Amino acid sequence: MKIFITRLIPEAGIKILKNAGIEFDQWSERRDVPQDDLIKICQRYEGLISVGQDNIDKKFLNACKHLKVIAQMAVGYDNIDIPEATKLKIPIGNTPGVLSSATADTAFLLMLAVSRKAFFMHQKIINNEWGFYEPTENLGIELHNKTLGIFGLGKIGFEMAKRCAKAFGMKIIYHNRSNNILAEKELNAKRVSFDELLLQSDVLSVHTALTAETKGVFNIDAFSKMKRNAIFINTARGAIHNETDLIKVLDEKMIWGAGLDVTNPEPMRADNKLLQMPNVAVLPHIGSATEETRNAMATLAAENIDAASKGKRLLHAVNPEVFG
Ligand code: DGY
Repeated sequence: MKIFITRLIPEAGIKILKNAGIEFDQWSERRDVPQDDLIKICQRYEGLISVGQDNIDKKFLNACKHLKVIAQMAVGYDNIDIPEATKLKIPIGNTPGVLSSATADTAFLLMLAVSRKAFFMHQKIINNEWGFYEPTENLGIELHNKTLGIFGLGKIGFEMAKRCAKAFGMKIIYHNRSNNILAEKELNAKRVSFDELLLQSDVLSVHTALTAETKGVFNIDAFSKMKRNAIFINTARGAIHNETDLIKVLDEKMIWGAGLDVTNPEPMRADNKLLQMPNVAVLPHIGSATEETRNAMATLAAENIDAASKGKRLLHAVNPEVFG
């Protein structure tokens, strides 16, 4: 099998492809492959490792229906039209599980950073504004025994809940379509309605996939129901919150603060108002960006390709129904 890879990926994945005798080429430019170019390029390949947010829509899939596999090097696959791929019998792989800890660490880091205004304080030193010690200034809020609300308690949400329960004795509530039995047993987590999640959470952390249902769900209506001292964290996808509404509620002190690893659009522009706000911490989508996790993601993506090249089921298929 000969495949194309839309970014330079860690050596761990490359090794697997080489050992499996899979030929490959990689896009090495520091910009996304334009979709029309990717369509042309893919005519020469039988498989694709998609990294980042390549637009794998109806147009792409129908122009590349000869592809035997598309392996997404990410857990999220909102950039791929899954029903269309399934209709065309193209297996789509992803990399769940291996990035849960690293992403939860990022959510936890943002929560702490926001609660103590850490990014803003750091910026004050850089601006030579450390200044005079005033006992009433630079105050944050504490997290001990507060309530953590998880929107979408899957593998990543569970890791975040575990960290918060163990480090700060936080009470865990969550909103899901179904119960997370493990979280209920191990963390005493309680499933609540979306409204209850908004009303009760001191920290509300988003860990759901981006779908038609979750797009823009954190808007002015939702934010208005949150506590005035609540912290909003999003490490999932930027389009799940409405950025204009978030700026408004922060400006009007309707919530305490926000920590974002994902924005809409990405990259965020340097003049974005959120970057000037004291109670906001923004990171450039680095949830899974550790050496260990990126190696594991590249490994899984390459293993999915290897499986497809041997006519086997993918290790992690988003649309297993294509295997009949
Ligand atoms: C994912 O896996 O979906 C991440 O957002 C990529 O880092």
